[in-house]
Amino acid sequence: MSYLSNSMIMTVNKLTVSYNFEGQDGAPVIIFIHGFPFNKSMWNLQVKELKDNYRVITYDIRGHGNSGTGDEVFSMDLFVNDLICLMDALKVDKAILCGLSMGGYIALNAIENYPERFNALILSDTQCTADTPEAKEKRIKAIESISKTGVEKYADESIKNLFASESFTLRKEEITDVRGMIVKTSEQSLCNTLNALSVREETCSKLSEIKVPVLIMAGEEDKITPPAAARFMHEKISGSFLKIIENAGHLSNMENPVGFNIQLKKFIASVY
Ligand code: MLT
Repeated sequence: MSYLSNSMIMTVNKLTVSYNFEGQDGAPVIIFIHGFPFNKSMWNLQVKELKDNYRVITYDIRGHGNSGTGDEVFSMDLFVNDLICLMDALKVDKAILCGLSMGGYIALNAIENYPERFNALILSDTQCTADTPEAKEKRIKAIESISKTGVEKYADESIKNLFASESFTLRKEEITDVRGMIVKTSEQSLCNTLNALSVREETCSKLSEIKVPVLIMAGEEDKITPPAAARFMHEKISGSFLKIIENAGHLSNMENPVGFNIQLKKFIASVY
């Protein structure tokens, strides 16, 4: 799945950001944030579905896809600053925010710090907890193995955990696309982002303060951020909606785009 044709470049927060901004002027804005270590093309099927009725922004997080890396130490706070600076540069005062996995960590951090900038939240295949000591240890091992055996091997190992079992036979094209996204990420950016993920702070204690409509989705076979993590957030965010996406693992928007998009569209229509 290649980038949508009108991908653009802009310098914000001393960073070259590659982004897409589709749809009609004046329509409600939805911003999608991808997971690690992917890029904005993972949202192509959602952009296609929404762009006739909404303005849809996708962008490559620092160190991913066609965006630059900048000079600062990667952190969730820095990723949030990049997002807010991009919104300012594009003159987007308020948007619906949708983040998958790391994109969800960024979305939760963004709504905690800039609640006035968002009118709804979609959390997909993500969690509010910080890394456990075991998870931190795994990150350190991943950094060591990337340095020793390279990005291609890391991609092959990652793929095993990302998808639902039936996706390995039914979603071969998506798997190839995702592998392509992983190997496009430089060794340095992979390690810098793994470090940023391992020191991220929990956002669970702030969930009760979220006052906008929230949709939480998770692939039923998500092994990385399982449905239990989604249920936990659902219980903490009053009035939130929870949808478990069948036939999907961690990348539910790519593995079951029909099921995912039905819930996405229904929720967005209820917000506007
Ligand atoms: C992601 O998909 O963004 C990652 O799995 C997040 C993580 O490793 O915590």
